[in-house]
Amino acid sequence: MIATTETKLHETKLPRLLMQLPGPKAKHVLEQDAKFMSPSFTRDYPLVAKRGHGAVVEDVDGNTFLDFAAGIAVCSTGHCHPKVVEAIQKQAAELIHISGTDFYYESLPQLAEKLVNTVPGADPKKAFFTNSGTEAIEGAMKLARYATKRDKFIAFYGCFHGRTMGALSLTASKSTQRKGFGALLAGVEHIPYPNAYRCAHDHTAETCGVEILETLERQIFKRLFDPEEIAAIVIEPIQGEGGYVTAPKFFLQELQRICRQHGILYILDEVQSGMGRTGKWWASEYAGVEPDILCSAKGIASGMPLGAFVARASIMNTWKPGSHGTTFGGNPVCVAAALATMDLIETQYKENARRMGDYLFSKMADWTKKFKIVGDVRGRGLMIGVEIVRDQRTKEEAPDLRNAIVDLAFHKGLLVLGAGANTVRLSPPLLIDEEQADFALQTLETCIREAEKKA
Ligand SMILES: Cc1ncc(COP(=O)(O)O)c(C=O)c1O
Repeated sequence: MIATTETKLHETKLPRLLMQLPGPKAKHVLEQDAKFMSPSFTRDYPLVAKRGHGAVVEDVDGNTFLDFAAGIAVCSTGHCHPKVVEAIQKQAAELIHISGTDFYYESLPQLAEKLVNTVPGADPKKAFFTNSGTEAIEGAMKLARYATKRDKFIAFYGCFHGRTMGALSLTASKSTQRKGFGALLAGVEHIPYPNAYRCAHDHTAETCGVEILETLERQIFKRLFDPEEIAAIVIEPIQGEGGYVTAPKFFLQELQRICRQHGILYILDEVQSGMGRTGKWWASEYAGVEPDILCSAKGIASGMPLGAFVARASIMNTWKPGSHGTTFGGNPVCVAAALATMDLIETQYKENARRMGDYLFSKMADWTKKFKIVGDVRGRGLMIGVEIVRDQRTKEEAPDLRNAIVDLAFHKGLLVLGAGANTVRLSPPLLIDEEQADFALQTLETCIREAEKKA
């Protein structure tokens, strides 16, 4: 019985809804969840997942969905890619855990070598593996303080770096993510992120952000933090949670110049934008910058919990044994999944992400003309944001219409998520094909039209 259902799922590329959602089994899970789970999660709609294959997810009632969310940009090689499953199964039968903090195993330096070789810059580099994105940021912050003997950080409004106390101190995406948790890390200053669609100075996507850099150098450095006290500047090259906003090339380059000038470390958070999602290993490669520390997680192990930060060896070598460690980070099973994932991204999916991204953008190029509530379509590769506004002229944010689009899409079999206050985020697995892209586009167009009627 299970074999038949699985065979069908393997053959499925497009969604099929059998009933009104949520179905009876899903309803039961929702009730149990409400009773026993922390209410701090933010579920947009009642998808109760049972299994997945490729870009298709089946729910507990047998409905199938096309997944353009990928578990929040995580399932890079799709759901349960056979090569990833095989690697996990083989490793699980051999060695599940031994702790890299205290012992050695072959695959740890193997993955570290593979990973550091993807990060731009000729200097030798070293990696530290974590269980999540927030831990990667946390570790990068600790390393930056340790290596520079400085304690301050510059971060950006709209950026999301995680939920643990250090990473949360950098996060400035939504106030609900910080509210109620008291004083966070001292010595973190936030400055605006360059958003060309909402540029206060009417710059283009190439020049937006000049004034932000002036504020940093002429105000912050002079009135608030002496640059010699700043350990690192931390930025997402493309904001994820903040609304899929892309920083201009010159901006990322100028930040690097400022960092180098003052001995500040340049930390790139590529937790969401990395691992081939934009068509290159790292979104920052489009700007030609070389980070001192780069953070990764999400897509790195196709859904197994793994994160990493990679630093120049000269920086990583400053800290002494015992100064940082982890029980589970770089667990052998997660590392096996990551090795298989990186092979697939390298040989197929990085290129597919670029090609399918171009395909989607070409079809969405006229959306701001076609729909009066679409203010902006932006991003790179398979990291695409569609900003929904009440009025294209005033650019008034329309979170209610965005939420309606996300919900309507679910009821038509397409999984997407929101990002920022009013953006629809498309972050499918990197293996989607044209047929799936077309389905997603047609469905979204229908949803936007329906939402427009409510506007
Ligand atoms: C850019 C970025 N950094 C850090 C994080 C935190 O990662 P995690 O949820 O794995 O802790 C996220 C998660 O959404 C992210 O998008």
